[in-house]
Amino acid sequence: MDKQIFSARLTFTRLALHDWELIHSIYSNPNLMKHIRDVMSEEEIRRNFENELAPWSIDSPHWLTWIIHENSLGDNNVGLISICTRNLEKLTAEVGFIILEEYNGQGYATEALKSIIDFSVDNIGFKKFIAVCSEEHIGSRRVLEKAGMSLDKMVPDSTQIGGKLVTDCFYSLEI
Ligand SMILES: CC(C)(COP(=O)(O)OP(=O)(O)OC[C@H]1O[C@@H](n2cnc3c(N)ncnc32)[C@H](O)[C@@H]1OP(=O)(O)O)[C@@H](O)C(=O)NCCC(=O)NCCS
Repeated sequence: MDKQIFSARLTFTRLALHDWELIHSIYSNPNLMKHIRDVMSEEEIRRNFENELAPWSIDSPHWLTWIIHENSLGDNNVGLISICTRNLEKLTAEVGFIILEEYNGQGYATEALKSIIDFSVDNIGFKKFIAVCSEEHIGSRRVLEKAGMSLDKMVPDSTQIGGKLVTDCFYSLEI
């Protein structure tokens, strides 16, 4: 799982120790977390980071995370993308992604999601992908749809973010 993955504009590298500053800056940024969850404490961010550095196989409970690099940029980290096994028998993985604010609107999330789905089908054997996002998170819903995922159901008052209950949208894609 440590090999590099490439798409037209992007390279994906498995999360490594030297990515701590980037990970810390992402997960402590209230704008980036606005639709995902309450901002975590530094200890929790560090704990999750260290969990994700562990070797990964399809029966691992932790997320497999890649840093997304834009090939033509100098200081080129544009975000991250992750998958996590949710149903081993049904070969189902959840996907999640974060693009830094300054790189939004250039199709990077969609390109990354399509690439990681393709990689995960070909190299891990997943047959189904799921994703959850809040109803009001139009940008993320659009990315999921552009990558071929379909809305299965909406569950009102499903997750609490910033003291407010939000409706969750559940998406899936079967290969
Ligand atoms: C959501 C996010 C991943 C989008 O990344 P991105 O690289 O800008 O996504 P893309 O450029 O591939 O596609 C975004 C699409 O949403 C659309 N969009 C974005 N915000 C929108 C809005 N407020 N209203 C309508 N459409 C919107 C864009 O126009 C584009 O669609 P188009 O290609 O049809 O024009 C990014 O903003 C992000 O990481 N946000 C914070 C973390 C997060 O919430 N992650 C998702 C967790 S579920």
